[in-house]
Amino acid sequence: MQKPNMIDAKKRNQHEINYTKYDQLKDKFGKNKKYFVRTYGCQMNEHDSEKINGMLESVGFKKTESYEDADIVILNTCAIRENAHDKVFGFLGVLKHIKDTTNPDLLVGLCGCMAQEEVVVNEILSKYKYVDFVFGTHNLDNMLNVIKERLDTSKKQVEVLSYEGDVVEGVPTVRDSIYSAWVDIQYGCDKFCTYCIVPYTRGKQRSRKKEDIIEEVKQLKESGFKEVTLLGQNVNAYGKDIYNDYNLANLLSDVADTGIKRVRFVTSHPWDFTEEMVDVIAKRENIMPYIHLPLQSGSNKVLKLMNRRYTKEDYLKLYNSIRKKVNNSSITTDIIVGFPGEKEKDFNETLEIVEKCKFDGAFTFAFSPRENTPASLMKETVSEEVKMDRLHKLNEIVNKYSNIANKKLEGTIQKCLVTDVSEKDDNKVCGYTENMKLVNIKGPKSLIGKIVEVKIVEAKSFSLDGEYVK
Ligand code: 5AD
Ligand code: SF4
Repeated sequence: MQKPNMIDAKKRNQHEINYTKYDQLKDKFGKNKKYFVRTYGCQMNEHDSEKINGMLESVGFKKTESYEDADIVILNTCAIRENAHDKVFGFLGVLKHIKDTTNPDLLVGLCGCMAQEEVVVNEILSKYKYVDFVFGTHNLDNMLNVIKERLDTSKKQVEVLSYEGDVVEGVPTVRDSIYSAWVDIQYGCDKFCTYCIVPYTRGKQRSRKKEDIIEEVKQLKESGFKEVTLLGQNVNAYGKDIYNDYNLANLLSDVADTGIKRVRFVTSHPWDFTEEMVDVIAKRENIMPYIHLPLQSGSNKVLKLMNRRYTKEDYLKLYNSIRKKVNNSSITTDIIVGFPGEKEKDFNETLEIVEKCKFDGAFTFAFSPRENTPASLMKETVSEEVKMDRLHKLNEIVNKYSNIANKKLEGTIQKCLVTDVSEKDDNKVCGYTENMKLVNIKGPKSLIGKIVEVKIVEAKSFSLDGEYVK
């Protein structure tokens, strides 16, 4: 049994990072069995689940849409805020009921960021004894061995490392979409924003080698993918850990050179975002003009307490440069309210900058203290009532500008990658514009998989209605 340790998780450079290849398991121990994976949290986790699915299928497991008839259920969890925890423990309760009644042989596993938390694993060991196996984010590629060990020995398995794992290439992957693919470019984060648990749960920054990334994109293009989204916690810091003279601007350029139709990237950090990167995005037609640029707060005092390493003036300078240089750009952001020490004056500064930027959209959060992070120990906490009040006020302004941004597109022609039948209306299809607006499109199903021109006829709050024109 190897349990996580948050103090070790904070350390850097404990281990050398090896670049290795995935070891395919020969034993098809999943034959005639069904799996169900539930994913919580960010795009990183979504993509990790595609690897979990891929590994399970590589030994014979088949996917089921219902956890009630699964032989194995895996919860790929998120630790970013407290409410993510509650959902996971709620679902574990449901699975306990199934084990107690209809399927005592059901295997239940937990992985992802919560598995990296000491308190969570201790709680699982003491109160959730029916959980069969736990593994962390650093040894995802070893998942099948953990499950096999559980089956062979009938003993609970807990295998969580509190130091970075290797960068493993070639992990089997079953992708959710056949048109748009996630591509990891970097794991972990070294920024240590004081509220954030990611540097502990995902470890030190490790960039994938540029050749491996470019090769993956080339292969995706050859198999018919139209779009890739390059993934990392702080993509603008890509390469800093392994190259002296190769950064995200170079990588974006090389990925664009593969000729894949659309290149996206998330998530950006203003501190590492250079003008060179802005220029590449502006220049290259297949790099999409959509940037998620977390602001977190509009108060320099709070930004400092958050260890964000930029001022609101720096943020605005970068923001304006993107708006000026990148055509048809859309910019979204993340904002936290109620960070310890945030006074009414600080909050008003956040509102001011939101009024200035007129974001296309924003994800807004009430500060949630996370285990062992510096912010969780800060004294000047803000009451839940004030947090909720601020969140409300902020959301009103955010929604106002996202509506305005959508309205501006009415009557324009936008290129959309059509990926699916519309969720709202079976007779429509849906897709995303270059600047990442969801459009429900009047047009035939044969458009699915294509990039087509769409006339935007009406802006709704969270989507657009459009008509296929060509
Ligand atoms: N409390 C509230 N929001 C948080 N985020 C990260 N950590 C916390 C926390 N402890 C938000 C940040 C980040 C987004 C992914 O989640 O805004 O950009
Ligand atoms: Fe967390 Fe900051 Fe790293 Fe983003 S940049 S993952 S908010 S520590």
